[in-house]
Amino acid sequence: MTAVQPGSLLHEGKAKRVYATDRPDVVAVEFKDDATAFNALKKASLPGKGTLNCQISALLFEQLAARGVPTHYLGVADADNWMLVRPVRVIPLEVVIRNVAAGSLCRELPIQPGTALDPPLCDLYYKDDAFGDPLLTEARLERLHLVNADQRVGIERLARRVNDELRQLFDAVGLQLVDFKIELGFTADEQLVVADEISPDTCRLWNRAVADSQERILDKDRFRQDLGGVVEAYGQVLKRLQQTCPQPRVYQ
Ligand code: TMP
Ligand code: ASP
Repeated sequence: MTAVQPGSLLHEGKAKRVYATDRPDVVAVEFKDDATAFNALKKASLPGKGTLNCQISALLFEQLAARGVPTHYLGVADADNWMLVRPVRVIPLEVVIRNVAAGSLCRELPIQPGTALDPPLCDLYYKDDAFGDPLLTEARLERLHLVNADQRVGIERLARRVNDELRQLFDAVGLQLVDFKIELGFTADEQLVVADEISPDTCRLWNRAVADSQERILDKDRFRQDLGGVVEAYGQVLKRLQQTCPQPRVYQ
């Protein structure tokens, strides 16, 4: 990389590696081709996925920033699957917004897949694979002492704001944002920002022009459900976003 040099590995997750750089205010994120589902019970390598998720996340973070939503994003690197971000203390919560019933909601409750959820549901999960990322109650969240009451309110407000913006962005290119997961964190100056990634790994996206309930899927459910064409679907998401979003900036 020309602008910054990656240093020591700070963290390796299932889909990304995070590195320190020669600048204290910049960390480098490498998007891997690895795909996992069901708490890593199912695994594969999908060549090209890392680059696609990096480029899709970059486009979306830039669009969010342009609309006043704070994120950790700084820019992409000159390598296609690397992104540069601000260092943040990530809160170990998976914040899920659901516009349409799908996935675990329909497995766990008598709600028909495809049911519109208005207002959208906001579900918080404790992010820890050893515990299977359990759904939290408000009392359990309070007991974990991860965030205070004001921060709890700020998290949901920010997640709903992200939903409003992403829905519009995806709608404009013929995609329905069914649900998504984001992770949030605090910067050194205690600003709450969107961190991690926003990609077809972390969103459910349906092609609005296709009625078939499997064919319309353009996200990681293709991998979870063995539908094939995972990388092709992610490629279609990027191609559509590129119709309305500029190329992500290369961090200098
Ligand atoms: P769910 O229906 O399995 O609860 O998933 C809701 C949303 O969260 C869906 O868009 C996929 C995303 N998600 C992740 O990004 N990571 C995960 O580990 C899980 C379980 C879901
Ligand atoms: N990300 C999770 C895992 O790897 C689950 C999922 O996305 O379905 O296990």
